[in-house]
Amino acid sequence: MKKIIIAIDGFSSCGKSTLAKALAKALNYGFVDSGAMYRAVTLYLLEHKISIQDLRGVEKALASIQIRFQAGAKGNRTYLNGQDVEDKIRTMEVSEKVSPVAAIPIVRRAMVRQQQEMGAEKGIVMDGRDIGTVVFPEAELKIFVTAAPAVRAQRRFLELQRKGHTVAIEEVRKNLEERDHIDSTRADSPLRQAEDALVLDNTKLTPDQQLQVALDWANERMEAQVL
Ligand code: DC
Repeated sequence: MKKIIIAIDGFSSCGKSTLAKALAKALNYGFVDSGAMYRAVTLYLLEHKISIQDLRGVEKALASIQIRFQAGAKGNRTYLNGQDVEDKIRTMEVSEKVSPVAAIPIVRRAMVRQQQEMGAEKGIVMDGRDIGTVVFPEAELKIFVTAAPAVRAQRRFLELQRKGHTVAIEEVRKNLEERDHIDSTRADSPLRQAEDALVLDNTKLTPDQQLQVALDWANERMEAQVL
């Protein structure tokens, strides 16, 4: 069967990556968490004390940033210049700083170029905010994931707890709201639902149930490619 591109977009903590990962596994496709790339850039800027006002500094930093993903015993890991930064990029510190970084046009241009290269061979599931609208506007399947805000905050809170981070749920909720606002109102590639995206509201769905819905859609689209 012909390989397709599956673009998954939506607000923060909607379960996009969970779905994208499970879909990629079920279809034997590649998986790219594009948010991890913006997080890795944010971590680099923080560690090198480069202000986001300093666009020259940001541009120079982008030239020396290499991001790649590698699957291992501990799951899919993000590498920044050869170092496993998967845990570091998930901290609240990075979460609080990432949206303004992702709003910088030169950062977006650099990331989008790499993302398009990763999908050149198709057979990929990528999740983010602008995958169906900017990165792969021709993707064969676009899914826009949504969930009730309280459910999203609870899920992210439990995820952070599981990873040993102690935060108040209120702080998590505020961070989600702020990121949603910045992500959907920025000038460059704001988060929006592509016109031809299928909406998947997973408020009342288990991960398995949402995977089943998406798999049915993917199979439909893959079959349509063969004809
Ligand atoms: O999915 P996430 O929470 O890990 O994303 C981190 C940030 O990166 C989020 O504030 C939105 C931004 N992002 C983006 O602007 N474009 C993408 N394709 C993916 C993420």
